[in-house]
Amino acid sequence: MSKQKTHVWGIIIFLLGLGALLLACNKEAGAPPKGEKNVAKAQTAIGDPFGQLPDGTAVELYTLTNPKGMKARIMTYGGTLVSLEVPDRNGALGDIVLGYDSLDGYLQASPYFGSTVGRYANRIGRGRFKLKGVEYTLAANNGPNHLHGGLKGFDKVVWKATPFEEKSARGVKFEYLSTDGEEGYPGNLACSVIYTLTDDNEMRLDYRAVTDKPTPVNLTHHSYFNLAGQGAGDILGHELVIKADTFTPVDEGLIPTGEIKPVKGSAMDFNAAQLIGSRIGLVPGGYDHNYVLSRAGRGMESAAEVFEPASRRVMDVLTTEPGLQFYSGNFLDGTITGKSGKVYRKHCGFCLETQHFPDSPNKPGFPSTILDPGKTYETHTIYKFSTRK
Ligand code: BGC
Repeated sequence: MSKQKTHVWGIIIFLLGLGALLLACNKEAGAPPKGEKNVAKAQTAIGDPFGQLPDGTAVELYTLTNPKGMKARIMTYGGTLVSLEVPDRNGALGDIVLGYDSLDGYLQASPYFGSTVGRYANRIGRGRFKLKGVEYTLAANNGPNHLHGGLKGFDKVVWKATPFEEKSARGVKFEYLSTDGEEGYPGNLACSVIYTLTDDNEMRLDYRAVTDKPTPVNLTHHSYFNLAGQGAGDILGHELVIKADTFTPVDEGLIPTGEIKPVKGSAMDFNAAQLIGSRIGLVPGGYDHNYVLSRAGRGMESAAEVFEPASRRVMDVLTTEPGLQFYSGNFLDGTITGKSGKVYRKHCGFCLETQHFPDSPNKPGFPSTILDPGKTYETHTIYKFSTRK
């Protein structure tokens, strides 16, 4: 070998050795501790202090961002989505969920803005149900009925948060242990909801729960969306598709009658795109109904699509759940001043809550919501954002 060649080989070996050394150092200093997948490196899931409960419990706010600029902020109180910034057709970001700028608003009066709802989303008639011969009485917080988990539902507790980073996504896992007897429910229920923001502008929600006694479980997400931007007037001009041929009619207390009724030929039919406002006058009180989704199987399927003509934002809702509550913000009445001083009037936000049907524990004809020990409750929902030309 010539002198020159030996020299080149020497340099190559030196560089390889240096590379290996740097890699080893990086492993020691930069690698996250076992179990905390990439958290140390995650610049896109950051927890910040967001205030305190009256008893001093600290509340944190996590910020998730993706390379397209989409940004979600979620707090440990109620596993609540506080803001969701989504690009419009021109790429301009707008916060498209209603809520408050600070924790105080949520503590004072929140109609479940952005909440994680449980142990049972929506209503259980008279707050009672029978399970294996035993009658259970739940907290009544909506006239005689039980709504969204009771007086202190999952929206009003502080969840434990663990941020994580994946290849094309980042998120936060929220965990909460609901103890036996809480709000009247049987069994210790260990639950989690994972919020994931993907690079494809999807906000993905994965729910899991296990119990040590049979109990009803029905978890959902309660954002009030306005795709024109929170506070930008009402949502009556949004175009909506709901993939459902039937719905569950309700009595005057909004408890399902048990009937499953076709939507065809009525103001309830959203199989073809309709403006939310075009027939709302025909629905006493406005839309606040559970749709029975037209599903092909049990996997993740498209449930609804919403389009807002001014921003040209589109939201697709996909889920593994059998039902979807469409609520047109009927009880918003201008008494709440939310983010950036915006006053929230009637119909200025809508909710699309993926769920099992309301009052299922008292409706043997509805799909069961009872979780047994040894089984895992698991549901998935995606809110996916895009724009139209
Ligand atoms: C229900 C409404 C209720 C609202 C609470 C919705 O999920 O369907 O009836 O008023 O939540 O803010």
